[in-house]
Amino acid sequence: MHWTILGAGAIGCLWAAQLQRAGASVGLVLRSPERLAQFQSRGGVSLIDDSGETFCPLSATLAATPRPIEQLLLCTKAYDSQAALESVWHRLNADSRILVLQNGMGSQQQAIERAGNDRVLIGSTTDGAYLRAPFEVVHAGHGETAIGRFDSTAATLPDCGPHFGLQLRQDPAIKTTLWRKLAINCAINPLTALYGCRNGELATVQAYSRALDALCEEFEAVARARGIPLFDGPLRDQALLVVRTTANNYSSMLQDIRHQRPTEIEQITGFLCNEARLAGIDVPHNRAALQQVRQLQHNRGIVSPSTSASPKSLSN
Ligand code: PAF
Repeated sequence: MHWTILGAGAIGCLWAAQLQRAGASVGLVLRSPERLAQFQSRGGVSLIDDSGETFCPLSATLAATPRPIEQLLLCTKAYDSQAALESVWHRLNADSRILVLQNGMGSQQQAIERAGNDRVLIGSTTDGAYLRAPFEVVHAGHGETAIGRFDSTAATLPDCGPHFGLQLRQDPAIKTTLWRKLAINCAINPLTALYGCRNGELATVQAYSRALDALCEEFEAVARARGIPLFDGPLRDQALLVVRTTANNYSSMLQDIRHQRPTEIEQITGFLCNEARLAGIDVPHNRAALQQVRQLQHNRGIVSPSTSASPKSLSN
């Protein structure tokens, strides 16, 4: 099986490198001739992990290439997801499979609506990775990738080769897993972006912890109303655990702001606020966080591609 990876960010490069190392056939799709030229001058992806630095030679193409796609990994930023899928639509056929691996919520449902339930697997990962430079990925934290289907509790894991270095898990309740990750992202990401702080400060600065508590309480109320089981204990405890274990990290949202990129606020807090509206629950702290991150993007001259698109509910 040949893997085509759409989205050469940290997760895309991590999967590309690990698939190549596992002996799978894999190639990247890049968005512009300039990116392709930049990639071709190095001819692969560098993976930096516990065992050092490994260069993984790979091919790359532009979306317009006619080669049919067998297995697509869709791991662009969530707000780019629909356009990215459209860009390779002519290469998909009835046998093509799509694994959607993105932050936030909404893009999964969009992919299913476009390609059909049968062809789409949904993933949620706790692997920590970041790009040290373009096409140089650091695998900073070993997690697992839960994979499941929205329309069924059974899902066959895609073939990644016998020696794949990432941990995969069949997930009969992938929607719940996505909600749990969303809960953590709603608690941590907007606050770190707004305060410009490392994750750890959300536990050590009292005013920041109070803000986190308020976001968590509202999230729990919405999850309860939508019938989504979150964690055994309070969400704030779980969020603070993540904050402490990633204390020195800058969240993905803060990194987006600092790199002058649109954030995934619409697919994270925007999704939650939409769910709250559908459930008739007021979430003033999350609404304020959404508005403030939008304002921050605006003040920094970051053009958000998604403020007009209201993320789809996943409860149906
Ligand atoms: O988005 C992120 O940065 C991470 O998922 C986490 C753990 C919320 C914060 O680093």
